[in-house]
Order: sequence, then C-alpha cells, then structure tokens
Amino acid sequence: MDRKDFLASIGLSAATFTLINCIGCSKSSDSPSGDTSGPTGIDFTLDLSLPANSALTSNGGYLVSNGVIVARTTAGNYVAVQRSCTHESYGLIYQGSASRFYCANHGATFSENGAVTNGPASRPLTTYRTQLTGTSLRIYS
Ligand code: FES
Repeated sequence: MDRKDFLASIGLSAATFTLINCIGCSKSSDSPSGDTSGPTGIDFTLDLSLPANSALTSNGGYLVSNGVIVARTTAGNYVAVQRSCTHESYGLIYQGSASRFYCANHGATFSENGAVTNGPASRPLTTYRTQLTGTSLRIYS
C-alpha cells in the first residue's frame, strides 16, 4: 500500500493531509511581525538557572523572549535588541562569531549595539538595558 492508498483508506486526501501538516506552521520565526520599531515598556527577567534559558549561559548564545533578542556576546556581556528587523519586520538572528544581528530576508546586519552595518535597513534597532543579579537577568527599557 502506497501513501495515497493509505490516506484513501483512512478517508483523507493528500491535500487534506498536507493541510493538517501545515496547521500551526504558518507563523514561522521568519515571518514578518509587522512591527519594525520593537516593543516598548519592556521589563522582564530571565532565570538563567532554568534549562529554557541555558543558551544565555554560553558566550555567543541567544534566545528570543517578549519580542526581544537577548544575547550573550563572545566577550560575555549581555545585550538585548528588538527581534524584528527595522526594514520589513522579519525575525533577526544573533551571530555571535560575527558580533552582529542578521536578517536573512534581505541581508541587513546590525552591530551588537543595534547600529545598521549593512542595508537595506536604514534605522537602528531598539536596544534594551540588561542587569544581571545572581542568575536573574533583567531586560528593561
Ligand atoms: S526585512 Fe530585514 S533586511 Fe529586509
């Protein structure tokens, strides 16, 4: 029995099966958020002792929380910037080895302090302050 026969035997068409597979995948991390300015009024804390935040215990690691990329630079400092690109709001990633934030959509890059280092973006990223107390990392406007 091939895949088509199997799907037919359980009452699904291949198109239905494809639709089911795609439910929940329509909002990928690379989808534009529609926000090119970044969130305002930010104030949250990450517990670095939790496994969910373990990316921030290594230099070059990063995670996304509350619309913010929080990264630990290769020098061991914490930086936080808006997640969305200032060009067309696609999700940025942090590239620690290059000390930059990168947008795969059109190739814009930003320094660790949010300045544009390569277009087509023309506006810097909104940056947020960080404060480490023990294992609690506060990110705030
Ligand atoms: S959306 Fe980021 S460079 Fe265009």
